[in-house]
Amino acid sequence: MKENLVIPNHVGIIMDGNGRWAERRGLSRSAGHKEGAETLKKICLYAESLGVKYLSIYAFSTENFKRSKAEVDFLMNLFIEKFTKEFQEIIDHDVKVVFSGRRSPLSKKVLDAMDQLTRRTENNTSLVLNICLNYGGQIEILDMVKKISEQVLNHKISLDDITLDIVSSHLYQDLPPLDFIIRTSGELRLSNFMLYQASYAELYFPKTLFPDFLENEFMEAIVEFNKRIRKFGGNV
Ligand code: IPE
Ligand code: IPE
Ligand code: MG
Repeated sequence: MKENLVIPNHVGIIMDGNGRWAERRGLSRSAGHKEGAETLKKICLYAESLGVKYLSIYAFSTENFKRSKAEVDFLMNLFIEKFTKEFQEIIDHDVKVVFSGRRSPLSKKVLDAMDQLTRRTENNTSLVLNICLNYGGQIEILDMVKKISEQVLNHKISLDDITLDIVSSHLYQDLPPLDFIIRTSGELRLSNFMLYQASYAELYFPKTLFPDFLENEFMEAIVEFNKRIRKFGGNV
């Protein structure tokens, strides 16, 4: 059965439930984020081994700045630590890391860690890992409109030149459409995740909290994807 599975080209994961995972164990929310980062590494390597070509993950939303300073600081330090020290296994598997999101108001330390990781992996050719950090789907669309408007105002392109390809190439990353979005922890919403790229994605909402979303659960998700009939507006 597993040999015949269709592997989605572009998978998105809204990694939700780290806080609840920790609270249920009487641990601090930080412990949940730490465990979530371990899970992410495993899932990234597993997805690559299955033949997923693009994996987009929601690490930090523009709205997550509403959380306590202590939690935001912990997450920022976790990003720095992971990007600088612990991505070696992912790099060894030829994964190319790219980032989506606004740079401001991220600190120089976080930005340097992101830029270094991008540079270190830019020639890798297996899976593209798109990390959405300080990312909001609406702001991505707003930023795209501004970039294209500027080109029109500077007479670099005319209104008639604006096609869907032009739109896609002015988003943070020029990625293929999402085929499958997984949101862990049972919440049934997108929370501003890749709104443009999600147009025809199949959605899946397992109840599992993200730190527990390991290889078996990812395989179950792929099996679920294979049960879906994708129609793209036609009458299959
Ligand atoms: C997702 O887990 C991780 C981030 C948003 C960074 P949460 O921190 O949202 O976990 P819950 O929803 O409180 O359980
Ligand atoms: C979405 O989760 C953002 C990330 C997973 C990074 P949230 O926990 O922030 O979303 P809401 O607030 O429940 O919608
Ligand atoms: Mg949450």
